[in-house]
Amino acid sequence: MNKSINYGNWVPRNMIYFFLVVFLIFLIPTLFPISLVIKIILWVIAGIWLFPFTYMMYLYYYFSVNNKEIQYKIWDLVIQKLPWNGEGKALDIGTGAGALAIELAKRFPEANVWGIDYWGKGWNYSIQQCEENAKYEGVANQIVFQKGSASNLPFKDAEFDAIVSNFVYHEVRDTRDKRKLINESLRVLKKGGTFSLQDTFKNKRRYGITEDLIRQIKAWDIQQVNFIETVDEIPMPKLVKTELKTMGLLYGIK
Ligand SMILES: C[S@@+](CC[C@H](N)C(=O)[O-])C[C@H]1O[C@@H](n2cnc3c(N)ncnc32)[C@H](O)[C@@H]1O
Repeated sequence: MNKSINYGNWVPRNMIYFFLVVFLIFLIPTLFPISLVIKIILWVIAGIWLFPFTYMMYLYYYFSVNNKEIQYKIWDLVIQKLPWNGEGKALDIGTGAGALAIELAKRFPEANVWGIDYWGKGWNYSIQQCEENAKYEGVANQIVFQKGSASNLPFKDAEFDAIVSNFVYHEVRDTRDKRKLINESLRVLKKGGTFSLQDTFKNKRRYGITEDLIRQIKAWDIQQVNFIETVDEIPMPKLVKTELKTMGLLYGIK
């Protein structure tokens, strides 16, 4: 992979720095001559903050794309399960740094691909980063990156032959009913078009019981809906599985 390509990491660095700084705030005073009781209290508190710091570092390593670890395999799964021949237009909803959109363009050289995201605060992604990644990957002429929200896609009904999305709906703040986001995504898909959508679908609070969710999607006049749990498809260490245990993939044909 080219060194200039930057697909980021789902563990934001700021979160890692935050845990590190809090850990140090409690640890550093113990290096000074203070009472042993206070030292012990500070060590205990520092130890509590060391745990999330270490866990986030661990996840950061496993999600790192430079060694094609878990993030890459998760993107790969979305595209593998998309029952599409690459003819026509595809849309990646919440494209982030453009990884899925770019991978679609690389695998389907005849396709035209759109990547949309709101590129708001909280993530270190930008439209410029997407465009540069597409350029470095040699697919810039196949892709359009555009600002827009998954809650209200800036496209007409039935514009796309394929839609994908990865790990986005649970992040969308302006739609509380996450099923509405799936419905909005499927709105822009043609009849007979294909979809592959990955998110925390096993989280009952967000999506309800999976069987009900699938029943509801079928009731929106969707011909074929399949569901798999991400952690069953990709080999990963137990601690990473714990973090991703609610992730699932909905794929099929409208
Ligand atoms: C965990 S990242 C995933 C990015 C990318 N899909 C990937 O797999 O690397 C979540 C993404 O959701 C995007 N996002 C959050 N709310 C959004 C919204 N309302 N509309 C579009 N994108 C949104 C964020 O900007 C961020 O890029």
